[in-house]
Amino acid sequence: MTYQLDQNVSWFTNVPPEDLRRIGDALYRVHYLMAHLTDLDTLLERIMSEGKEVAQAEACSLMLYDPKSEELYFEVAMGETGDQQALKQQFRLKLSEGIAGAAARTRSSINVPDVERDPRFCPEPDNAIRFTTRSLVAVPLVDRDTLIGVIEVLNKRDGGAFSESDLHVMEIFSSVAATAIANARLIEENMRAERLAAIGEAVAGLSHYTKNLVNGLTTSVELMEQSLEQEQYDVLRRGWSILKRSTRKIAHVVEDMLAYSKPREPAFEPVRLESLMEDVMDTFWGLTNAKSIELRVDLEGVTAPVRCDQQALYRGLLNLVVNAADAVSKENGMVWLRAWTRPDGGTTLAVDDNGPGVPPELRHKVLEPFFSTKGSNGTGLGLAVTRKIVLEHGGKLAVETSAGGGARFRIELPPAETD
Ligand SMILES: Nc1ncnc2c1ncn2[C@@H]1O[C@H](COP(=O)(O)OP(=O)(O)OP(=O)(O)O)[C@@H](O)[C@H]1O
Ligand SMILES: [Mg+2]
Repeated sequence: MTYQLDQNVSWFTNVPPEDLRRIGDALYRVHYLMAHLTDLDTLLERIMSEGKEVAQAEACSLMLYDPKSEELYFEVAMGETGDQQALKQQFRLKLSEGIAGAAARTRSSINVPDVERDPRFCPEPDNAIRFTTRSLVAVPLVDRDTLIGVIEVLNKRDGGAFSESDLHVMEIFSSVAATAIANARLIEENMRAERLAAIGEAVAGLSHYTKNLVNGLTTSVELMEQSLEQEQYDVLRRGWSILKRSTRKIAHVVEDMLAYSKPREPAFEPVRLESLMEDVMDTFWGLTNAKSIELRVDLEGVTAPVRCDQQALYRGLLNLVVNAADAVSKENGMVWLRAWTRPDGGTTLAVDDNGPGVPPELRHKVLEPFFSTKGSNGTGLGLAVTRKIVLEHGGKLAVETSAGGGARFRIELPPAETD
């Protein structure tokens, strides 16, 4: 039987006012805990401990129902001396066993004034922890017709039997505990479903992308084999350059995945931006064959030393430059790589292009991992990696419109700390 206000209101009239105040206070505390505790184990322990105090019991337990094995197992077990670990580890009850099993099976609360006179009583748990149960109240935990478990309070402290009002109070506690458990399970299930969906999406995107690259590798290897046999060295050279580019792209995506997968403390060092930009451009030309794109570098405004993790920043900038090259037209595409020192001593790095730009409504989205408009030609990891690197440097990454109407990605690094 679940707790229903209309059925149980009458018992309140027979409860002495001081007991009603105690019950009200305990329920107030339990509702407060429900709103403030996120850890289910702690919440259940606190609910049970309040229940034990209100019913003035020596011990209490909360058993959960495992629908697969159709058994009850101890989730919370508290005696006068604290946590009853042995019960949690050793015991499982069939629904045909014990008074708890009967309460679960019949979905009704049971008040037993003297367990010795009740043939349903199962003494094994008592024997395991050298406890002697005299009286008990067992109440099923039910949420929307689903059996969740059973709560029990054992041995009224004054040596007598539990009263009808004790039973009703425990029914209220059982409905609170059932709601807490059902909510926690729902949240857990939703989170699992969301996590699985996100993993599925990521794996699908990545496998599509790498499959394309591997297909490219296979085709160029076959082409090279043929051209070797036929001694066509021109074709061989072409196949070789495709092979080299595809291998670099695979290395690039693996490096992006590694960079994204775990937090990394930047290894700060003084950096010459000229050599950093040269590295970026070298790799850029090796990754794309966009020979017609013009790439310009302007570092004239840099007047203060730059301290950063050179390898990480190289990765972050490379992703921005590759994106810019993807966005611009193959005929008159322009990409600018600029850096300057701000009045506060920090460094700003900007990658501008004369492509179509990023629409304002997508400016947040493009920074999220796995967002890509390039179908199987992009993983959507590039900007997420750049953003992560910039944040790890204590900086900011902004998406804007460039002076010519294309995209501008601006990295702001904080001033170098002087030791
Ligand atoms: N310079 C740019 N101009 C216009 N759109 C851009 C630009 N840079 C990025 N974007 C948009 O942001 C999206 C996400 O970029 P991101 O680098 O994260 O992934 P991707 O380039 O699609 O894939 P990958 O980096 O694996 O090649 C791109 O698909 C594109 O729609
Ligand atoms: Mg990219």
